[in-house]
Amino acid sequence: MSAYNSPSTVLITGATGSIGSALAQAYAGAGQILFLQGRNTARLQEVAEFCRQKGAEVHTKVLDVRNLDELRDWVSTVSQENTVDLLLPTAGINVNIGPNGQGETWEESSALIEINLVAAMAVVDAALPAMRQRGSGQIGLFSSLAAYYGLPLTPSYSASKAAIKAYGEALRGWLAPEGIHVNVIMPGYVESKMCREMPGPKPFLWSPERAAQVIKRRLARNQARISFPFPLNLGTWYLAVLPSCISQRILQLLGYGH
Ligand SMILES: NC(=O)c1ccc[n+]([C@@H]2O[C@H](COP(=O)([O-])OP(=O)(O)OC[C@H]3O[C@@H](n4cnc5c(N)ncnc54)[C@H](OP(=O)(O)O)[C@@H]3O)[C@@H](O)[C@H]2O)c1
Repeated sequence: MSAYNSPSTVLITGATGSIGSALAQAYAGAGQILFLQGRNTARLQEVAEFCRQKGAEVHTKVLDVRNLDELRDWVSTVSQENTVDLLLPTAGINVNIGPNGQGETWEESSALIEINLVAAMAVVDAALPAMRQRGSGQIGLFSSLAAYYGLPLTPSYSASKAAIKAYGEALRGWLAPEGIHVNVIMPGYVESKMCREMPGPKPFLWSPERAAQVIKRRLARNQARISFPFPLNLGTWYLAVLPSCISQRILQLLGYGH
């Protein structure tokens, strides 16, 4: 069985979040080695302890991913000293235009781009040399269904997730011949702090555990685009192919407009 069918060393950023912690728990087990990052120390220890109880060896790192030098140093060291089979940069935030459409502040938008896009790219960049040298490894990048068509309520978030989608697709084509698998993960609504704080309706809301199991299964199949749930995936995909005036109208009617 190849490493991407059953990765034994997994590095996860945002392991204190809903999806990140559910993924850590999904990959925990005897013989597994997990490198978990978060900012919330107490929560990180709680997640690590749960994974240890399932038999995994767990290493934790508390850091703010906006500290790019520290982030790159950590990922690079872990990657040189271990065979990281699977890299999951899940850390992310969401901001929105506010209840009266007043708009995102520049501070919010730039922090979001740093966390959702630049930090995720920094993690990939720091892990890639070791993966390329040995000709194996897998990277699951967190986009969102909001990447298909920008949602008026969350412009910066939509932009960050569209950028990650394009980045992951490009990396997949570039790195496949070298034996490195890159997957773009596009969840719909998954119960979490970020999701709760997001404005607009949240149809087909999934639990983080369900999302983690589906992500794990489809990563094992090396599926290029891991998007779910089906009805919302189809609907948001259509928004991208319909004429924009129709897509905007649909978003207004469904409560995502302004
Ligand atoms: N939930 C959804 O509906 C949904 C849908 C589509 C895509 N996604 C994507 O899935 C990923 C995980 O989201 P989630 O729902 O699990 O969110 P969440 O529960 O709110 O967790 C967010 C995670 O990001 C970490 N984080 C945020 N800012 C950070 C920073 N500056 N430095 C270090 N860590 C930071 C948090 O760490 P601390 O808590 O320790 O600060 C936490 O671990 C995100 O990339 C998100 O965009 C989520």
